[in-house]
Amino acid sequence: MAIQSTEPTVERVRKHNQGHLLAFLDELNEAQRGNLLDQLDRLPWSSLPRWIEQHVKTDHSPQIPDRLNPAPSFPPVPRDGQMTKKYAEACSLGETLIAQGKVGAFVVAGGQGTRLGFGGPKGAYAISPIKEKSLFQIFAEQILATSKRYGAVCPWYIMTSPLNHAQTQAIFHKNDFYGLDPETVFMFQQGTLPNFSLEGKILLSAKDRVASSPDGHGGSLRALFESGATVDMSTRGLEYLSYWQVDNPLIKVFDPLFIGLHVLEGAEMSSKAIKKTGPMEKVGNFCQVDGKIRVIEYSDLPDPLARQTKDDGSLVFELGSIGIHMVNRTFVERLNVGEFSLPIHRAVKKIPYVDPSGERIDPQEPNGVKLETFVFDALPLASKSIVLQTVRAEEFGPVKNATGVDSAETSRQMQMDRAVVWLEAAGLSVPRQDQIVQCTVEIAPSFALSAEDVEARVDQVPPIKPGDRLYLA
Ligand code: UTP
Repeated sequence: MAIQSTEPTVERVRKHNQGHLLAFLDELNEAQRGNLLDQLDRLPWSSLPRWIEQHVKTDHSPQIPDRLNPAPSFPPVPRDGQMTKKYAEACSLGETLIAQGKVGAFVVAGGQGTRLGFGGPKGAYAISPIKEKSLFQIFAEQILATSKRYGAVCPWYIMTSPLNHAQTQAIFHKNDFYGLDPETVFMFQQGTLPNFSLEGKILLSAKDRVASSPDGHGGSLRALFESGATVDMSTRGLEYLSYWQVDNPLIKVFDPLFIGLHVLEGAEMSSKAIKKTGPMEKVGNFCQVDGKIRVIEYSDLPDPLARQTKDDGSLVFELGSIGIHMVNRTFVERLNVGEFSLPIHRAVKKIPYVDPSGERIDPQEPNGVKLETFVFDALPLASKSIVLQTVRAEEFGPVKNATGVDSAETSRQMQMDRAVVWLEAAGLSVPRQDQIVQCTVEIAPSFALSAEDVEARVDQVPPIKPGDRLYLA
């Protein structure tokens, strides 16, 4: 009987030349066998042959369009009187929409954070300079402060992956949801994709387990829909999501200007951008192709284009993507109701696997391929998309690596630098010697969400002396 019920799956697996996945079937107990067959059943078999040929066995680089132009963008500060008026209108609209509960926070936290090498969900990583608050806590405090300021419910959608969902849930429970109402926190899991050997064989991570990894932040656009998050949004009357990545403690979760411009311009999905530090900085490039905004990865932008400069010496393709977007609920719904797929990207990685003898191998060298999709690939699917430039020091200090560039150390420094900039902009004196700041400062979201908030509360900041560790809350 058991054999009969497994037959269609077994046949399908063999037909796709993946029979090695069944090598240990006879050794497994009933529960394990059921578990494995269930995983195999759920693999995306109709897409697999194409993926294996185009993205696993070969590196099918995306076609770079001929007519590639830099993307138009809004500058960080208005250029003229007309633009000043527009920005003021946008800010006011953004604030109204937040107050009306039409904007939700959306963080993608399903990544594996392999470069950081932290043994837990990255959101739990302690990153603030004095209080050592975790990334999750920093975001939660911003959401609380915003909610209080506008007297509004600001729901928070959190995407995890099957690899860190239970842990993330446990962290939120342990921390009492950082003071947020659990009813306003919606946590859901993204999908996964199988991992492959370089020859196109799906790997097993255990005798009864297919090796798989999260399907990339692009998976968020499907997961929002399939998890019921869009239904939850709709029930709450929520129209817009402010999207960011879990590793960026400098994020302004709710930015009235960005929200307002996005809505005023009638966009479906929009982005924030920063000026790149140089032609080869490892961030995606904002481009325009046939009237559509697209992000072309740094590795895909031809060198001569990356290095091209304008008369004033600045880069033609100067805008880099930082994983900050506005996304309309109806856009996510529209994509999912129709046939929608994002391009597949390939990454060669070290992937632990079970070899034909049943031994678990932890490879020292990259041995396989992970596939994923990127959220910015949805930009050209939007009917309209805008790009708003922002200032790196204000909004982008990611924690990607254990040391060096984009590490915890650089991110903490950027948080302190921004706090000092806000204090000095408010006319406060910060001790310096040879320009080097002589104190440590941390500003809690409850104290200020922006430089303007500090200005409004200067009288609450005590005099700062060299060596002080000043925490403002
Ligand atoms: P990264 O591209 O930095 O990947 O993700 P990562 O998995 O966090 O880290 P490495 O590459 O293994 O070191 C950027 C953002 O996208 C989220 C991450 O959690 C991070 O917020 N992400 C990434 C997902 O939510 N799901 C994914 O499948 C991949």
